[in-house]
Amino acid sequence: MKFIVNNGGKLSGDIRVPGDKSISHRSIMFGSIAEGTSRISGFLEGEDSLNTLRAFRAMGVQILGPDDGRVVIHGVGMRGLKKPEQPLDLGNSGTSMRLLAGLLSGQAFDVELTGDASLSKRPMERVTSPLQRMGARVDTATGDRPPLNITGGRDMHGIDYDLPMASAQVKSCVLLAGMYAEGKTCVTEPAPTRDHTERMLTAFGCPVEKSGATACLHGPATLTACNIDVPADISSAAFYMVGASIAAGSEIVLQHVGINPTRTGVIDILRLMGADIELLNATEAGGEPVADIRVRSAPLTGIHVPEKLVPLAIDEFPVIFIAAACAEGETVVTGAEELRVKESDRIQVMADGLKALGVNARATPDGMIIQGGDIAGGRVHSRDDHRIAMAFSMAALRANGAITIDECANVTTSFPRFAELATAAGLSIRVDA
Ligand code: S3P
Repeated sequence: MKFIVNNGGKLSGDIRVPGDKSISHRSIMFGSIAEGTSRISGFLEGEDSLNTLRAFRAMGVQILGPDDGRVVIHGVGMRGLKKPEQPLDLGNSGTSMRLLAGLLSGQAFDVELTGDASLSKRPMERVTSPLQRMGARVDTATGDRPPLNITGGRDMHGIDYDLPMASAQVKSCVLLAGMYAEGKTCVTEPAPTRDHTERMLTAFGCPVEKSGATACLHGPATLTACNIDVPADISSAAFYMVGASIAAGSEIVLQHVGINPTRTGVIDILRLMGADIELLNATEAGGEPVADIRVRSAPLTGIHVPEKLVPLAIDEFPVIFIAAACAEGETVVTGAEELRVKESDRIQVMADGLKALGVNARATPDGMIIQGGDIAGGRVHSRDDHRIAMAFSMAALRANGAITIDECANVTTSFPRFAELATAAGLSIRVDA
C-alpha cells in the first residue's frame, strides 16, 4: 500500500485521534488477569492492540468488542489464563511481546510468542536477561531475537533491577513478572519513561511504590477489575501538531489527548523550536491527565534537542525530524540510539527519506543533524514503519511537489483511518492499494 500526498494545503478543524496505544495494551492485559469485569472506552482498534486482545482471547479470556472503542473484559484472575493452542502471534507489536514476556513467565503453562518480520528482528535480551534473574526460563532464536519460548511452572522471585536503557517496555516487563514473584520487585530507570503501567496497576489495586527513579511492587499480587477511559494518543496527535505547525494558516484542535508528563516531550521540543501550542480544558481520565491541544502554524527554528527530553518523545522523532527539516537553521538530536531498534531503524530510514527529498540530513550513531530548508517532492520508503509513513505524509504540506510513500500498510497498527482523518483536516492524501 502506498500513500500519494499532494503538496501544499493547511490543516484545520477539531479532531479526535484514536486511543492511546500504550494504555490500550495495558487495559487488556490487566483487565484479563483481574478479578471481575472491566469496561474500557476509547480503546485503540489498531492492529497492535488488537493483537494483544486476540492473545488474551486465545488464553481463554472472554472479551467483548471492540465496538466503537468499547471493550468488556471478563477477568479470569491472576491464575486463570489457559495455555493457548497455538503460538501467540503478536504481529508488529514490540509492546505486546515484551510486556507479555513478563506477564507469562510466571504462568503454569509453556507458551511461544512470535511476530512479523520487523518484530522478529528486534532485540529481546533486554527482557530475557532480567526475567532469567527472576527465575524464569525464556529461550530465544539466535541473536536474542523472537520467537520467545517461555517455560511455565517456574518459581519466580523478586529482584532489584537497574535498567540498562530508558525503556518503559522493559520496566513494565519486570514489574509484570514481579506480580507473579515472591517478594519485592524494584526497577530503577536511568531517565523517566512512560509510567502507564505504574498508574494502571495502582488503579487495578496493586500499588506501585515510587521513590525517585525506582518503582517497586510486592508479589504475589492480585488485581481487581477497573473501568478505563483511554485518552487519544499523543503519539498520533503529534503528526497533526507538526503538520499544523509547518503549514502556514493552519489552526487545529486535537481533542482529549493524554498529556501524561512522561509523554509530553514532543510538546516541549516543538515549543523550544517556536511552535504555537496551547493546552485547553485540562482534566483527568482513568488516572491519566488529558487536555485539548490547540496548534497554530508558527515559524520554527532549529535547536539542539535536550537529551533529557528524548525518552519522553521517543516515538515522535520521525515527525520531529520533519519539523526540523522545515525549521530555520540546524537541529541536532543526540542520545537517541534507541531509535535504531524501533519498528525500523528510524535514524537511517528517516535520513534516507529526507535526503531523497533534497533535505540536508546526516544520520549519526545516536541521532541526526538536519539543516532546515526546502523539501522537494519525490518518493520515500517507510520500510513498513507506521510512524515513518505518517511523518512523511505531513512533510508534503511544505514540499515543492507530491510525495509518494511506499509500504504504508502498517499505519493500521497504531492509527486506523489515518488517511481519512488527515483528509478531513485538509491533507490531500490518496491511498493506493
Ligand atoms: C512503549 C514504550 C516505548 C515505545 C513504544 C511503546 C510502551 O518503547 O517506543 O512504542 O507502551 O511501553 P521502549 O520502552 O522500548 O522505549
